[in-house]
Amino acid sequence: MIFTEPRLCDISVATGMLQNADGHYRKSYRDLTGLYADSEAFDAILAQKADAIAYEVTSYTPGAKTSDIIMGVTRMEPGKVGREYFLTRGHIHANGDRPEVYHTLSGRGVMQMESPEGEVRLVEMGPQQVCYVPPYWIHRSVNIGDDDLVMFFAYPADSGQDYGIIERSGGMRVRIMDDGRGGWVAEDNPAWRNRTPDEVASILNRAEAMA
Ligand SMILES: [Fe+2]
Repeated sequence: MIFTEPRLCDISVATGMLQNADGHYRKSYRDLTGLYADSEAFDAILAQKADAIAYEVTSYTPGAKTSDIIMGVTRMEPGKVGREYFLTRGHIHANGDRPEVYHTLSGRGVMQMESPEGEVRLVEMGPQQVCYVPPYWIHRSVNIGDDDLVMFFAYPADSGQDYGIIERSGGMRVRIMDDGRGGWVAEDNPAWRNRTPDEVASILNRAEAMA
């Protein structure tokens, strides 16, 4: 038996990156086209910094099995599109029966979650708070602060990501907006359509098929 070697990775909170990582991807503002309610405000941002980094992820992947855990760091810029706080694209795990842990290292965020049946959970997180995202919840993070939101995360390596689930429903059920008093408020997304019982069943069946 060859045992996997341990791995030590430093986290740079200042740069929002995992060092000694083996994976790195960046999302530009252009990559986030279509996610925000205020398309005029978004176009104004694109005109200024379409190719700037909106958020980036550095990670270490030790293997591909359920028993392997991918770990990493995500860093998201602060800001708003109109009144809507910057967010990550969000996803459900393709193998829905897989959880994730998020630990806020710096900044302030909301972990926005939505069940396949349309239930909403919003967990505000500050430094040194950890959120357990249970299996089957669609999840995205939202930067509600004035600084970078830097979070450590870990999830089973065979989770996979289905990004289309949000698009297919017209976005997530609520949007995290500036409340005008320095805080945030969740407002209903009028474009949102709930998933049908067949779609919900297919999410659950897909997880069973992959198990
Ligand atoms: Fe995830």
